[in-house]
Amino acid sequence: MSSNRQLDTLYRQVIMDHYKNPRNRGKIDDGSLTIHLNNPTCGDTISLQLQIEDDIVKNVKFIGEGCSISLSSASMMTQAIKGKSIEEALKLSKVFSEFMQGIAPPDDLDLGDIEALQGVCKFPARIKCATLAWKAMEKAIEEKTNEVSVSDSHCGCEMKENESK
Ligand code: FES
Repeated sequence: MSSNRQLDTLYRQVIMDHYKNPRNRGKIDDGSLTIHLNNPTCGDTISLQLQIEDDIVKNVKFIGEGCSISLSSASMMTQAIKGKSIEEALKLSKVFSEFMQGIAPPDDLDLGDIEALQGVCKFPARIKCATLAWKAMEKAIEEKTNEVSVSDSHCGCEMKENESK
């Protein structure tokens, strides 16, 4: 077997392992931030829950319906961002998005199991499958960040000013 074929086989095994034994599948019970997204081309869905404390992804879980690429990518994404800062998670998401366009990750960044999805960039229709969970993660972080800045901007002075009008 050529080394390329061996690598393809290994990558397929990694993808199927995440598909059949998804990491972080399920729900977080404490009402953490939940984002629902769907893939408009097929209608498949993901619900992603993020628990963020002090800008760190303390916990992350997902449930969803989808193909092997979408669910394995969700599993890999949750594995990769758990315990990371939101800045690191967003950076990884950017690298992953570029990876799906055929752009190699920086040399100092080890993608781990995510490497197994490198073949997806050759199939444009599947890129949306692979990026669904990552978009959900970006949206969840965006909502969390907006939530914090909105509550920060509501200081007592502003409220008093409005009340006096
Ligand atoms: Fe629906 Fe891949 S075919 S997410």
